[in-house]
Amino acid sequence: MQHDKVLILDFGSQYTQLIARRVRELNIYSEIHPFNKIPANLESYKAVILSGSPYSVRGEEALHPDLSQIRGKKPLLGVCYGAQYLAHFSGGEVAPSNTREYGRANLSFIKTEEPFFENVNEGSQVWMSHSDTIKELPTGSILIASTHDVKNAAYKIEGEITYAIQFHPEVYHSTDGKQILENFLVNISGLHQDWTPDSFVEETVEAIQEKVGNDKVVLGLSGGVDSTVAAVLLNKAIGKNLYCIFVNNGLLRKNEFQSVLNQYEGMGLNVKGVDASERFLEALAGIEDPEKKRKAIGNAFIEVFDDEAHKLEDVKWLAQGTIYPDVIESVSATGGPSATIKSHHNVGGLPDFMKLKIVEPLRAIFKDEVRRVGATLGIDPELLGRHPFPGPGLGIRILGDITAEKVRILQEVDAIFINGLKEWNLYDKVWQAGAMLLPVNSVGVMGDERTYEKCVALRAVESTDGMTADWVNLPYEFLQKTSNDIINKVKGVNRVVYDISSKPPATIEWE
Ligand code: XMP
Repeated sequence: MQHDKVLILDFGSQYTQLIARRVRELNIYSEIHPFNKIPANLESYKAVILSGSPYSVRGEEALHPDLSQIRGKKPLLGVCYGAQYLAHFSGGEVAPSNTREYGRANLSFIKTEEPFFENVNEGSQVWMSHSDTIKELPTGSILIASTHDVKNAAYKIEGEITYAIQFHPEVYHSTDGKQILENFLVNISGLHQDWTPDSFVEETVEAIQEKVGNDKVVLGLSGGVDSTVAAVLLNKAIGKNLYCIFVNNGLLRKNEFQSVLNQYEGMGLNVKGVDASERFLEALAGIEDPEKKRKAIGNAFIEVFDDEAHKLEDVKWLAQGTIYPDVIESVSATGGPSATIKSHHNVGGLPDFMKLKIVEPLRAIFKDEVRRVGATLGIDPELLGRHPFPGPGLGIRILGDITAEKVRILQEVDAIFINGLKEWNLYDKVWQAGAMLLPVNSVGVMGDERTYEKCVALRAVESTDGMTADWVNLPYEFLQKTSNDIINKVKGVNRVVYDISSKPPATIEWE
């Protein structure tokens, strides 16, 4: 089945991904492409949105795509830079605004019956973030809304389905932003809202069957959401021809290997658990540098996975849990209009000699959509709601060199912290949490004895994508109880601290 698609041309705004997500929340499929790479199959897109940008349309390095195939031929919405772009090149005037216009503003409509603002109330809050402003509207346009500081806040072009708005409908602070996008895409442009997790599952299963046929596929499970959802989708498509490998690198959380393996088996996956803890520990012996540890863990993983994959006969495909943010080609805001592909920690390199073809069933969807698809597939909500956990696991939470004893200590500490968060109903309010074992001994007193033992740091952050994060204000009572439990129950630890650093400038992991 063909779904109506929206093309989002990216001019480098930090919000471009949000536009795609809001459109998809309306059950309409959307794709992001760099402004200078309009897809050849343009006819397959039913509407186009121009994103915002850190650039000025007046600047020398301004981004000027040729929109002649689009303008007046397809429904078109310009957002912020997009709106200024449409004005600047069609007889309007864009100039620096006297005040930099950031933050909230309230819409005031010029006409009440404008369909673009159906079900949006006068005074509706919108979010502005721009330093240029549209002084003169382009030829043939009609002003449809203003705000107190921005006269030309929204306009449309007569005789076309072309709209332009200075504010950002994609950010949550624009209260009716989603309604405005729905008005534009559905009511005005007639797109169908039929792209849902159910339809995604059905179509992806068919696509996998068609692509892979009766071939065997191998997939590395990590215990995380993406690889699990990818596995369940593939299992639905090809059943026992999917061979999953779940490697214990010895750096997982306490009891995680066995419990997750049991869960996988319970889901009917054809999975083999490989306990390679010793091999990883050997590979890590004496290494202190974080990047060298990552490399050692990554290389050991490839070796173990490769050994296991070679035990299977006739495997033709390697499946990966790559998701959309890993593959979007976005316009770099710092590096000029050149397109760069974001690479991700999890997208591991494979030895060339494996020569497997790649199948990535989640390539087109965002993390929240992966969760929705997982729910549609009946995956346990607890598994879908798990915090992110880095591939190198506790290896980058033990500062300095790694030994079996340090792993044991950190697993105990981490388990008390994480189970405590669950018991206190705090787990789902936190985006990611974990404990770090510091390379520091400090003096304590237990009973009448002087101790000289390890210090651990607890970290809990809120975030949406891990790019920026803030520490969570966990209740004092919880921290008090957790610290007591750790010091009383985990031999070798006599001090607990809580990390109150935001990212930036700190990172989430300590290494
Ligand atoms: P940082 O520490 O960079 O972490 O603020 C951001 C997010 O990425 C995770 N992370 C990793 N994930 N391999 C991974 O698979 C890695 O080497 C790695 N380093 C950090 C981190 O847990 C957080 O979610």
